[in-house]
Amino acid sequence: MHFPHYRPRRFRRNENLRRMIRETSLGVDQLVYPLFVVPGNGIRNPVSSMPGVFQHSTDNLLREIESAVELRIPAILLFGIPGHKDPEGSEAYSEKGVVQEAVRAIKARFPDLVVVTDVCLCEYTSHGHCGVLRGKEVENDPTLEVLARSALSHAEAGADVVAPSDMMDGRVGFIRDTLDEAGFDQVGILAYSAKYCSAFYGPFREAAESAPQFGDRRAYQMDPHNSDEAIREVSLDIEEGADIVMVKPALAYLDIIRRIKEEFEWPVAAYNVSGEYSMIKAAAANGWLDEERVMMETLTAIRRAGADLILTYFAKDAARVLLGRS
Ligand code: PBG
Repeated sequence: MHFPHYRPRRFRRNENLRRMIRETSLGVDQLVYPLFVVPGNGIRNPVSSMPGVFQHSTDNLLREIESAVELRIPAILLFGIPGHKDPEGSEAYSEKGVVQEAVRAIKARFPDLVVVTDVCLCEYTSHGHCGVLRGKEVENDPTLEVLARSALSHAEAGADVVAPSDMMDGRVGFIRDTLDEAGFDQVGILAYSAKYCSAFYGPFREAAESAPQFGDRRAYQMDPHNSDEAIREVSLDIEEGADIVMVKPALAYLDIIRRIKEEFEWPVAAYNVSGEYSMIKAAAANGWLDEERVMMETLTAIRRAGADLILTYFAKDAARVLLGRS
């Protein structure tokens, strides 16, 4: 069929016609809201590079979560900023750690909310790398033990899903075995499978106080030039027991999301990261972009690429739009 018989504009004439042939849907069900928790009371520190994002102490975090639950957001992703950092990142697995305490408080108050915890060492190590060091190198296998201990401590506190974001080889299998041996076979794994070494994480490192003190993360996170390697990473993670695989960042990697969705019959998540959020916020603050429209277009694009779930700092703003409450 071609012009003049077929005229694509026919189904663009009004909103109901457009709704009928709309191919991609975005709903609140697909949103995961990332949050930062710090020790203490009454704390709500704005993150200057991420307008609208705060570091909360648990009391204020519960208030923030209440508003997300009210907007029917099904899940949060929790990052902890510990009171104390050391070379081994020992607070990452402390029973009294900031994430462990927060998870217990959240689950007591919101038992049905899906609580996902980020499992990584960079927030907890004094050097800011995602693993244990030998000299200047992050050592893979000794790091697995610490990550698994940390994941287990999150599960013991009540986390529903653990999300390893370190990019060590073999960590998904190691964590799965550790959880299973301890009887946590119902705790899920959301694996940061194709996590690229990206400059888009810049604002997050202020929020999580996790910038590496020397060097960068190129020796463990993926090289942005690669696509086949993402497929290999995802197949390893699925074989090792990942329930959901994730691509991160999202916007510069929409092709990767699409390839993974096509090659695996597996839930795919995408992380709309800090830099993607801050770019929109900065342009909107200057009056250069319409924030709400660009936000919705961005999230729709990530869905259209193939993401089943989107982790985004816009979760509450998007939910308000989707529920007609903005
Ligand atoms: C920790 C971690 C990072 C992000 C999520 N988990 C930062 C990093 O790898 O340096 C980035 C999230 C964002 O930018 O929003 N490993």
